[in-house]
Amino acid sequence: MTTVPARGETPEPRVPLGMPQLPAPDFPAEVRARLEADAKEVVARYPDSRSALLPLLHLVQAEEGHVTRTGMRFCAEVLGLTTAEVTAVATFYTMYRRRPSGDYQVGVCTNTLCAVMGGDAIFEELKEHLGVGNNETTPDGKVTLEHIECNAACDFAPVVMVNWEFFDNQTPESAKDLVDDLRAGRPVEPTRGAPLCTFKETARILAGFPDERPGAVEASGGAGPASLVGLRIARGETPQASIVHPRGETGTEGGE
Ligand code: FES
Repeated sequence: MTTVPARGETPEPRVPLGMPQLPAPDFPAEVRARLEADAKEVVARYPDSRSALLPLLHLVQAEEGHVTRTGMRFCAEVLGLTTAEVTAVATFYTMYRRRPSGDYQVGVCTNTLCAVMGGDAIFEELKEHLGVGNNETTPDGKVTLEHIECNAACDFAPVVMVNWEFFDNQTPESAKDLVDDLRAGRPVEPTRGAPLCTFKETARILAGFPDERPGAVEASGGAGPASLVGLRIARGETPQASIVHPRGETGTEGGE
């Protein structure tokens, strides 16, 4: 219920107190100078500076581990955007974390195919095993668990990603072993692609800076064997195991 102020009284403020105070604090001078040099390199790759917003968000995420108001202010100032414009982008894409998170972002795909192949079970068991819910971090700060949507790796379902590297064909047991190894600091190898690195290191690569680790780029490779099955059939390199007929028709030629 609202109260109408008497004549001459000041109306109650409609905006609740306790809103975030703007502007956000700036980075320390030496951090800002370093990030400005990096940002200059990124922006120079684009004909229109605002096109550099996505990599710059990765850059500030590489600095702090998540995208803070300070990081968004930095992006806005470098690109001549408003903080509202930057915030709209940073809150749209799920690859930008909004709060302090773990060294390893463990994403379990729970989209349709992975879900029915075991992704739902993996996610439920990991929640219980780690004692955290979706988008929560283990007390040791090592693992942030989240359920993620399709990562275009359906042919390797169910898929778990750690800092955006693939761990294919997982089971609840293998996924629990994986997070145990991550928390214990034991080395883990993605099923394919480049070796694993920390979330901040991954964010810097996504900002467009080279992966300096020996052999990492070469290891990225191409499509995996399961992704190439259709192409091999189309080329006649692999016999077709089955033929799908148009609805209502039955076929007698070849296949099952
Ligand atoms: S449904 Fe999981 S990668 Fe596509």
